[in-house]
Amino acid sequence: MPGIKITVISGSHRNPSQSYKVAALIRRQLLDNAVCEDAPILSLADNPLPLWDQGIWEGDRKWGRLLDPIHAQCRDSHGFVVVSPEWHGQAPAGLKNLFLCLSQREVGHKPALIVTVSAGSGGAYPVAELRMSSYKNNRLCYIPEHVIVRNVEKVLNDDPAENDAESDSYYRERLLWALGILKEYAVALNHVRKSGATTTREFKNGM
Ligand SMILES: Cc1cc2nc3c(=O)[nH]c(=O)nc-3n(C[C@H](O)[C@H](O)[C@H](O)COP(=O)(O)O)c2cc1C
Repeated sequence: MPGIKITVISGSHRNPSQSYKVAALIRRQLLDNAVCEDAPILSLADNPLPLWDQGIWEGDRKWGRLLDPIHAQCRDSHGFVVVSPEWHGQAPAGLKNLFLCLSQREVGHKPALIVTVSAGSGGAYPVAELRMSSYKNNRLCYIPEHVIVRNVEKVLNDDPAENDAESDSYYRERLLWALGILKEYAVALNHVRKSGATTTREFKNGM
């Protein structure tokens, strides 16, 4: 399938952040290995979106200005990588807020790879949280593979001197393998959407 676009969501509010470092590496891997043709980063650094409010459902222009470009980017995408740090055992509030602002029109029945990030030995909680509670109505499809980048400060740095060599090569290989799987899901789920089977006026939300 030509012209595959995979958007990499960097879910940390911090600027700079380790999540953004990982997102940038993933973008390079996607492009350098021709996994896809386009791989923009959607960064939540510095909180570009306010918390959800009712105006979003009432055509408030403020929301149109903020969300139109994000919705267009996601509508054009065939798949997503969701990079989330673990903060107090959770996904960041801004990332959960983004999922309130996305609908199935933008991300429905499109595959997403979860990549979580921890400065220590954490990272499992945001995987569980995202799989549990960020897809029901927008129908984003998390693939079964995910990657937990532990001790993130010691891997995936541009300067090899900053990396633990063994862990660094393990994560680079594992990420690239997972991205290859994501790409095949992107191709396969394109057929699912095109089949018309997912189109419904009746069942607007998931159960
Ligand atoms: C508010 C806050 C809470 C955090 N809580 C955890 C945690 O529960 N578990 C963990 O492994 N790391 C935790 N960390 C450290 C992150 O793993 C670390 O900041 C890492 O760099 C990923 O976050 P970043 O993408 O914002 O840089 C926390 C960091 C912040 C800023």
